[in-house]
Amino acid sequence: VIVVLIVISAVVFGLTLKSAFESTFLSRCEKFDQYDCKKVWDAFQQAYVNKDPCKVPVEAYDPLIAAAPFKPQCNRMMFWSKTKDVVHGFTEKRDCFVTLEDTLLGSVLDGLTWCGKEGSKDTNTTGCPGWSDCENNTVRSFWIRASAAFADVACGNVTAMLNGSINTPFNPTSIFASVEVPRFIASRVKNLNVVMVIQKNNISNCTDPSLKNLRQSIDTGITFSCKDVSESRIQECGSKPQIACRTCW
Ligand code: APR
Repeated sequence: VIVVLIVISAVVFGLTLKSAFESTFLSRCEKFDQYDCKKVWDAFQQAYVNKDPCKVPVEAYDPLIAAAPFKPQCNRMMFWSKTKDVVHGFTEKRDCFVTLEDTLLGSVLDGLTWCGKEGSKDTNTTGCPGWSDCENNTVRSFWIRASAAFADVACGNVTAMLNGSINTPFNPTSIFASVEVPRFIASRVKNLNVVMVIQKNNISNCTDPSLKNLRQSIDTGITFSCKDVSESRIQECGSKPQIACRTCW
């Protein structure tokens, strides 16, 4: 009886060892073929486990990126800034574009919070520093590293959805402006096509001065275009598969 109890408690203990966070990570990961999710999980954990959550530099995630590299998807890559819901509302329904959050690493970690702690091998999901609490925090460093790697493989026609309902659609402090745009190189990227999402109460559009900064900051040789597109047109294209991707806007 004692032996049986020990075996049962060992099994139960073993099962509870896998946290809800790890289970979410693995189940999201397993939707993608061709990746060893256990290996990806191990590479992920080494970035932050047993560390002060404010002392996780961007490079800590290099082994994770190496374990789950981004594949170039020329002419289909979609970047965005302050348009998360519109973009993903669209990419969820139509297979026209691929965002970072449609890739393995982006989709596995989208919406999650995690951090480690010095002297512990656990992954915490509460009590972690917020985005701007300290520079080198666990979550922020991941998104910067992943965004850089995603931008590094950008090729052909690249699309970016910017928000026409804010003052500065191309904001120099955004990840799009500070991490992604500088990595678009003319030998790989032909055009950068901005889709300016226009809502009824928009305050800016493609003529906004910040877009001039964008045009000037891209690598010479990459051509630039910008098109004002209503949010309702983007939603229409999302819900009508008979509209070809290239004629959405
Ligand atoms: N607090 C929490 N999360 C933040 C914050 C913040 N202050 N700022 C950015 N983020 C995270 C969130 O996950 C948010 O959804 O970054 C995401 C994008 O932030 P935005 O300010 O909307 O845009 P941007 O900084 O330009 O980043 C988007 O980077 O994620 C990549 O490829 C993606 O092109 C996209 C770009």
